[in-house]
Amino acid sequence: EEDERTERIEAALEELGDDVVILGHNYQRREIVEHADFIGDSYQLSVEAAESDADYVIFGGVTFMAESADIITDEDQSVILPSMEASCPMAGMAEALQVDAAWAELTAATDEDIIPITYMNSYADLKAFCAEQGGLVCTSSNAHKAFEYAFERGDKVLFLPDKHLGENTAHRLDMADETVEWDPWDPEGTDAEEAVENDVILWEGYCQVHERFREDHIEQIRADDPEANVIVHPECRREVVEAADVVGSTATICETIENADPGETWAIGTEIHLTNHLQRWHPEVDVVPLCGDACMDCNAMRQIDPNYLTWVLEELLAGRERNVIEVAPEEKELAQVALDRMLEI
Ligand code: 13P
Ligand code: SF4
Repeated sequence: EEDERTERIEAALEELGDDVVILGHNYQRREIVEHADFIGDSYQLSVEAAESDADYVIFGGVTFMAESADIITDEDQSVILPSMEASCPMAGMAEALQVDAAWAELTAATDEDIIPITYMNSYADLKAFCAEQGGLVCTSSNAHKAFEYAFERGDKVLFLPDKHLGENTAHRLDMADETVEWDPWDPEGTDAEEAVENDVILWEGYCQVHERFREDHIEQIRADDPEANVIVHPECRREVVEAADVVGSTATICETIENADPGETWAIGTEIHLTNHLQRWHPEVDVVPLCGDACMDCNAMRQIDPNYLTWVLEELLAGRERNVIEVAPEEKELAQVALDRMLEI
């Protein structure tokens, strides 16, 4: 069955030729990444989307990534997400309406300038909001540069939606003592006057996959093999990042394994599909999942089923564009400003 589907995908791609480019995030299944023209982290894929001149950009990833591709590509290019169900839960943790309410409270509590930074894992309306308030977008590979950009222009940062990436970045910049969490789910719990006494205000959002890695997973790996190296994604909790040998975006994880010496052991603290790809791509390195058998699988990424990829391609051949991701024009322009600021830093 897989062979037949592969043949159908290959036949459709051959016929569509240069009209189509397939972008695959590092967390996509093997059956998707093997058809991708580019595989990478969310920053690299946004650069590829910006540089591509294909009529159709088929995005193997989640909604916020496809939205960003739509913002960055030209008017006459269409971005297609093979499943409309592929939505990152973390992106849904900072709704623009909630952020508006928090912003009103925080800005009323201080005369100093707050600059909002949103992680790429957020929807276009929030990116537009950040641009409007002088802020920008970042990914896990450039969050520290986004902080530097913000502190050159303002006094405080509101970081959304991932509190762990925000906290890990504050540590990297020696600002750990100046952070506070803002919990929009508990209006009694966060006082705006107190929050603005800090330089970095962290929105209470997190990734349901990365939050499950624990320090004792690292202790167990090291107890089993004292020579093992540990690399984790910055969406992991602070104590996990602190205990690891290396922290980095999915692109950094890939580069680290590419450059590892044969025979080295690397335990990977990120979504399981990337760990599986790295095992296949680098059999000379001993690549193991950080959490043993516990399945760190991203449900949102998993929604991109190869059958859906086949469907959107065959529909294109029949002249029908399915699952086109289109950001509302009023948000598009501003969200583009926030993304361009990121691409420039
Ligand atoms: P990267 O930016 O490292 O690709 O990560 C995206 C993501 O969704 C991580 O969970
Ligand atoms: Fe979202 Fe986490 Fe999945 Fe990344 S791994 S897409 S942050 S839920």
